[in-house]
Amino acid sequence: MPDVVPTRALPDRGPVHATGEVLATRRAGAYRVLTLAVPGIPERFRPGQFVAVSLDTAHLARRPLWIHRVRATGTHGATLEVVVEPCGVGGRWLSALPQGARLPVTGPLGRPFALPRESVPCLLVGEGYAAAALFSLAERLRDRECPVTMLVAARDEAHLLSALEARRLARSVTVVTEDGSVGSRGTAATHVGAALDASGAPVVYAAGAASTLAVVAREASARGVSSQVALERPMPCATGLCHACVVPVLGGDGGVLQVRACLEGPALPGDRVLWDELG
Ligand code: FES
Repeated sequence: MPDVVPTRALPDRGPVHATGEVLATRRAGAYRVLTLAVPGIPERFRPGQFVAVSLDTAHLARRPLWIHRVRATGTHGATLEVVVEPCGVGGRWLSALPQGARLPVTGPLGRPFALPRESVPCLLVGEGYAAAALFSLAERLRDRECPVTMLVAARDEAHLLSALEARRLARSVTVVTEDGSVGSRGTAATHVGAALDASGAPVVYAAGAASTLAVVAREASARGVSSQVALERPMPCATGLCHACVVPVLGGDGGVLQVRACLEGPALPGDRVLWDELG
């Protein structure tokens, strides 16, 4: 397996807590994409990290959101985009936020994806809105001259995130939907083996449901491919305090460690996660 370099948080790269402003909001199929101006967060962001937003006091306490894109634009300086699925009380509230709304944001949080030391081909597997975590990664990999192949999957066309953007970033894109409404019929799990074989990538990055990530990690290991997975867990505090997001992983000595997805993750080596013990 190729060397990947764990990215460690530097002192000046720690999270900040700031009031964000919604600069723009747009529909993306079944999702809502919010463009936020949040001083200090875009500059610190690395692919794989996320933000936690505090919701209206009448709703849920906090919500982790993947950072889709960071853009250096306009009078507000760098901005970030987050993707919201309008389901549940908190998701509907966030999706309905108008331009100009303000909300507390903490980030960037978590450990980012480890990047290859050399310019090697990389396969990125994204499912549903979680695919948001992979687009800035694709840009970063391209900057490092790593040829990028993407597999983007969703249950239907409406839940497919940024397939056109994927085509701009990757040299090759496979689109898969469960209902066959666009691309090939199937799931990320059913297509990842073929995608690994076709890409010849020694590194795969994946974001999606835990059951999908488990398959990606298993298929990667079977081929001697290194896997990095962005693991989504319930995150009430998102800062390492409540231990609600623990993930069992294999330690270096063969013992089992309980790591926190919000602090030691969300990007984790897929072959270290004990998928069968994940609650
Ligand atoms: S969400 Fe509280 S420790 Fe991770």
